[in-house]
Amino acid sequence: MGIQFIKISVVYFVIGVSLGLYMSMTHDYSLTGVHAQINLLGWTSMTLAGLIYFLFPKATEDILGKGHFVLHNIGLIIMMIALFSLIKTGNDALGPIVGIGGIILTIGVVLFAINVLKNVRPENFKLK
Ligand code: HEM
Repeated sequence: MGIQFIKISVVYFVIGVSLGLYMSMTHDYSLTGVHAQINLLGWTSMTLAGLIYFLFPKATEDILGKGHFVLHNIGLIIMMIALFSLIKTGNDALGPIVGIGGIILTIGVVLFAINVLKNVRPENFKLK
């Protein structure tokens, strides 16, 4: 789980910084929210979570870890595609879809928090 999180996070990193570069070159900052969320929820948060899962295998074995992985990724993808489309088309009807993606992602983060509180303990630390 830790390795999967870290590998997916670098894909978000490439997309996030490419969008930042595009915004800098075109002076079009309308997608700043998408850029910031992809970098922070995709790259930074997922890398940190991946490192924690790697160092504490018990958190990976827990069903909460699998739930977090699925919900964090599905939620972020739904949220980012909907937010990108809303900004580019101006179609406010997409707002609730951004919200649904955000709720799914947040549930995933809550599962992660419970998992950390339950399984991240000195006796569960394991470095290969
Ligand atoms: C090559 C790398 C990057 C480029 C070219 C870039 C470019 C930009 C640009 C042009 C903006 C809009 C600034 C504005 O609205 O005035 C921005 C905003 C932002 N970027 Fe990046 N960025 C990069 C990497 C990152 C990374 C790695 C992160 C976080 C991990 C990040 C987080 C943010 C945040 C949070 C904002 C919003 C700031 C605000 O609105 O106050 N960026 N970036």
